[in-house]
Amino acid sequence: MIPPRLKFSRKGLQVLDQRLLPDRIKYITARSAAATAAAIKDMALRGAPLIGCAAADGFALEMRRLKPASALELKKLAVRTADLLKAARPTAVALFYAADRMLARALAFAAANPGKFSPAARAEFISIIEREARLVTSEDEAACLAMGRHGARLLPKRCVIMTHCNAGALATMGIGTAVGVITAAHKLGKISHAYSCETRPYLQGARLTIWELMREGVPSELITDNMAAHIIKTCGVNAIVVGADRIAANGDTANKIGTYGLAVIAKHHKIPFYVAAPTPTIDTQALNGDVIVIEERSTKEVTHIKGACIAPRGVKVRHPAFDVTPANLITAIITERGVIAPVTRASVKKHLA
Ligand code: MRU
Repeated sequence: MIPPRLKFSRKGLQVLDQRLLPDRIKYITARSAAATAAAIKDMALRGAPLIGCAAADGFALEMRRLKPASALELKKLAVRTADLLKAARPTAVALFYAADRMLARALAFAAANPGKFSPAARAEFISIIEREARLVTSEDEAACLAMGRHGARLLPKRCVIMTHCNAGALATMGIGTAVGVITAAHKLGKISHAYSCETRPYLQGARLTIWELMREGVPSELITDNMAAHIIKTCGVNAIVVGADRIAANGDTANKIGTYGLAVIAKHHKIPFYVAAPTPTIDTQALNGDVIVIEERSTKEVTHIKGACIAPRGVKVRHPAFDVTPANLITAIITERGVIAPVTRASVKKHLA
């Protein structure tokens, strides 16, 4: 079993500190929206759906902490809180989806209860907002299970599969997206082997995904990113599955840096390349992948490993944390509603209708 990633209570949000995994299982406590945003920004928690769930929890915490006394106060506080959370990381749309959803709930309450709030109205508001946050989490859990079912059906028997980054339980409140597909297929006896790419520079594959696969009893091996093409060519890999941080309206998909390269290799070797992501990952406002903001993270994450510098001092470094895989390299997108294939603007639109 993977330890709980978030534990929400009235006193605060306990966050499994993923920076310490797999060596240590330790929780930090966020007692405000600012502390939740800091935990997201500093990668104590990560993975698109989990970031969304944490944002909803952080929003609810802030409302309980500051208990707005009137509709006007609530409106100001809700907008400020949503903005604060949305500034934590730019690429995963789940963060924006959850913060805006909580904001809409809060604004609807303010519109329905103008003027000063009675003690009963204040209590009602807190209970509505906490219920909404719980709903964001339970919807994520259910979506993961459904993606696991749909995805497992797509995979062949004796599947040799590869994944990148961590789109597992640690990235969600459920069984994961891409890794959820692998573990669901494993339960059906369909996985003969899984490969996890280490995912330089932040090493989500080496620290998190392979740890999850081992804990779930999936026969698996860790490889460095530059081994992928060789392993695909020589070890019978017959499917690749990854998660997503944001999917544009035409199916172009932003995911962890290195995903695009894997999709190109998959095309060359004529093996299916699957993206597993819940429907809130589809950003209909983004016409195509070119408009997706790619997070640039600290160059220190490239030059240092566990505190040790591995590059010359003064070196110039780039660190785009995500890349965009064009829709035409994606065989299918697996969501909680089913499968989008082929991946085109029209099929994405139809899926969401
Ligand atoms: O920088 P991270 O660790 O938050 O990036 C995570 C990924 O890129 C995942 O593949 C993506 O968020 C999907 S998680 C189900």
